[in-house]
Amino acid sequence: MAMRPITGKTVVVTGGSRGIGLSLVKGFLARDNVVIATSRKVSDAAELQQLRQQYGPARLHLSDLDASRAASIAQWAEGVKGAGVKHVDVLVNNAGVYGRRLDLQEFTEADFLLAFHTNTLGPFFVVQQLLKQGLLGLPPVPAPTEPGAPPPPAPAPVALVANISSIMGSNTDPTVSTVTKGGFAYRASKAALNAISTTLARDLAPSGVEVVAMHPGYVRTQLSGGNGWIDAEESAAGLIGVMESGVALNGRFLTYNGEEIPW
Ligand SMILES: NC(=O)c1ccc[n+]([C@@H]2O[C@H](COP(=O)([O-])OP(=O)(O)OC[C@H]3O[C@@H](n4cnc5c(N)ncnc54)[C@H](OP(=O)(O)O)[C@@H]3O)[C@@H](O)[C@H]2O)c1
Repeated sequence: MAMRPITGKTVVVTGGSRGIGLSLVKGFLARDNVVIATSRKVSDAAELQQLRQQYGPARLHLSDLDASRAASIAQWAEGVKGAGVKHVDVLVNNAGVYGRRLDLQEFTEADFLLAFHTNTLGPFFVVQQLLKQGLLGLPPVPAPTEPGAPPPPAPAPVALVANISSIMGSNTDPTVSTVTKGGFAYRASKAALNAISTTLARDLAPSGVEVVAMHPGYVRTQLSGGNGWIDAEESAAGLIGVMESGVALNGRFLTYNGEEIPW
């Protein structure tokens, strides 16, 4: 049984138009949550449109978000606030790109920038802009005024940020990342996302926000060129299961089936 059920909550899933994101949207809707799903152009996202018909606009908000552009993220967060959302209980930073599959000699600056803008800066600015709108976690507790006074204890978590990373962002995992070659831009962007996740985990604990980096498995999607060991439904069910399991999440790097990944 779920120890920390995600039901009756407000959940954001970025990159909800296909693949793992779309399956996460379906999973959170099936658990009676209000879901805010994004893609770069939701009017083109046929499956999201069909889900909105099925569940209605009060249960599924669709909004355009280009995770690779800070200005688009700021505008989107303003729109979420403007739509009357009071608090985001769960944010899944899922939107991501692999980029071109290249040999070492072929990588250009643009390949690195695309991966970093989407996979690293995107999740950071989504968190930053939701905080700016007052939609994520508790207001910051003022620092104690008495010299030498201990900091106030961290409040119980009220929000969860799950950054969909990749085992390819690990420097030491013996099963995949250290036995495969190439993928420079993608690996570096996910390793940097991991650094952002652990830093956010520390910085946001006083605001009651937990932050976890998660590997969704090797999943048959557009990003993986249809290759993989599992389907998006299995990945999403596993990811949600870990979020609900009640295990400590803050500052960790976990697979979709709850295994710890070394950094
Ligand atoms: N598949 C795997 O084996 C695997 C393994 C490890 C990690 N992951 C991670 O899992 C996440 C989801 O990947 P997936 O396999 O489901 O990929 P996918 O099927 O290609 O879906 C990617 C999603 O991200 C969105 N997206 C791409 N660029 C975007 C941008 N600039 N701004 C906003 N949204 C953007 C896409 O939406 P639009 O195109 O509609 O904007 C789409 O909904 C990614 O972070 C990926 O790195 C996947």
